[in-house]
Order: sequence, then structure tokens, then C-alpha cells
Amino acid sequence: MSPAAGGRLAAALSNAGALGIIGTGSRDAPESILRDADDFRASAGEKRFGIGLMSWAVAARPELLDAAIAARPFAISLSFGDPTPHVKKVHDAGIQVISQVQTRASALVAEAAGVDLIVAQGTEAGGHTGDVGTLPLLQIVLDAVKLPVVAAGGIATGRGLAAVLAAGAAGAWIGTPFLVAEEARTSERARERFLRSDESQTTLTSVFDRAQDIPWPHEFRGRALANDFSARWNGREDALSASPDAKNELLEQKRKENYDVAFLYAGQSVGTLHAVRPAADIAREIADGAEPLLRNAASVLG
Ligand SMILES: Cc1cc2nc3c(=O)[nH]c(=O)nc-3n(C[C@H](O)[C@H](O)[C@H](O)COP(=O)(O)O)c2cc1C
Repeated sequence: MSPAAGGRLAAALSNAGALGIIGTGSRDAPESILRDADDFRASAGEKRFGIGLMSWAVAARPELLDAAIAARPFAISLSFGDPTPHVKKVHDAGIQVISQVQTRASALVAEAAGVDLIVAQGTEAGGHTGDVGTLPLLQIVLDAVKLPVVAAGGIATGRGLAAVLAAGAAGAWIGTPFLVAEEARTSERARERFLRSDESQTTLTSVFDRAQDIPWPHEFRGRALANDFSARWNGREDALSASPDAKNELLEQKRKENYDVAFLYAGQSVGTLHAVRPAADIAREIADGAEPLLRNAASVLG
């Protein structure tokens, strides 16, 4: 969730009792990972945190994984691609491995690779994801693997957390609600756009990757706020790849923060966001909201 999820946001969440994760981008400098880890420790000391990496990006730029290991997190997430080649190196450094999966097949690959925790990421999620909804995927993955499974995609309130815990998930992995947290590296203009978007206004698209020549594997598209640019180019990705004008337009409008053209990745739970708040308050509200619902669900059984 780069650049929104830097060391400050991760620290606020780890201080609140969650496991804060620092997001990295495929083109980030390795030093920025170390800077975020320093920022984390400046606010949260030696509390646990994670670093999120994309397996396909690590395959092309192993220095990203080396920097993540040097930052000494509690866990490294290796998602979007086979984590197998990297698991031993991370374990040898005494670091746990998490892997986000989007299908039963990729869950089985992650389990066989020896990861410690699986995140079943449904298509409702913000950022890059697969095509299967969180609830069907969670049921399928929980039945397919022996490892603990955490649910991701569309969980933003106590209701969502209660639902996945009741289904057997070990927890929830949450991104979109924290895009508007006070500690997120999100601009004012972007926050304002998130807050006025509803659940029907996202699109699962590869156009923003194609326009930036970012080589995401084709099975992963990104869930972003739908805008004029996505409407114009969805379904015409090859023409977009061949259009320097369109690529320049995206770059230019990104600089100007014109989000009718530039992208803002966000999940369907964007429709639950109403205010900018400290990350700890958002996390506590989700956790506290789940508790009475779970008690009530138990009481249904008598
Ligand atoms: C803006 C944004 C960027 C993201 N980028 C990444 C990423 O680079 N790597 C990754 O593993 N997950 C990424 N994610 C997905 C999260 O890890 C997580 O699956 C997702 O946020 C959970 O669903 P939710 O957004 O509905 O809460 C991103 C999510 C968002 C919102």
C-alpha cells in the first residue's frame, strides 16, 4: 500500500495492538524501505511490524527483499507471484513469511512453499487483487490449507470482522479504511476524493499499470476509483500501451493531482469512509464493533 502505508501509519497500528505493515512499490528505492523502518521505530520502538513486497517485483529486483530483511521486521509479506524462491532466505533471517493469495491454487503453492500465514484476498480489496470475492475465497482457502488464514478485501467495520472471524479466519488484513487515516501518506485532495466516493465507484483495471509500463502479471488487476481515464481505456489496453500521448497525459495529471485522470487505488469498502481519523481509532472501532456481534451470533445457538 505504498506510499500511503509508511512507517508512521504502521507504527500507529502496531501501537494500537494490530500488526502494522509498511507497503513498498515495485520501483521504490531500497533505502526508502529502511527509512520507513526507522520511522516506525521512532514511534513504536521494538514493537512488531511487517513489510509488504510483491514476489514478481522481488524476482526482478532482489535488492528490495535484501532491504526488507535488513530492516528486521517481524514478518515479510510476499504476494502476487510464487513466494517459494524467497521463503528460506527470509526464514534464515528469523523473519516470518506471510503470503496473500487470490485462488485456491495459489494458497496451496504458498503452503507448500512453507509460509507461516496465508491471507485470502478477495476481489473487493483495494489495490491489486484477483477476481474471486472475499467470502467464497475465504471458505475455499480455509478448507484447502492447514495454516492459519487471515481474510482481506472489503473488511472495514466490526460487521466485516465478525463475519470473517465467525467463518474461521484468524484475523483480518485491512487496507482501504486506513487510506484516510491521519498518519497515512495521503494528500488532502486524495482524502477528499476517497471520502466522497461510494462502494459502486471502483473498477478493477490494468489501465493504470499499462499506462505506466509497470509489468504486473496479467492475472492481477488493480482496484481503483473509476474515473474518466479508466472509462476511456478499459477494454482498450493494447491501444493504451501504444499511446505515448495517453501515457504522458496520465503522468502530467498525476503531478497535478487531477483524479479525473490520475489513479487512486481503493477497495469497495471506500463506501464506509466518512472522516479522517487517527489509525488507532479506526482499528479500535472495527475490533470493538465485532465483539457484541460475535456474542450475539453465539447466542443464536442458545
Ligand atoms: C492503495 C492500496 C495499495 C495496495 N498495494 C498493495 C501492494 O503493493 N502489495 C500488496 O501485497 N497489497 C497491496 N494492497 C492490498 C492490501 O494488501 C490488502 O489486500 C487490501 O487493502 C485489503 O482489502 P481492503 O482494501 O478492502 O481493506 C493495496 C491496497 C490498497 C488500498
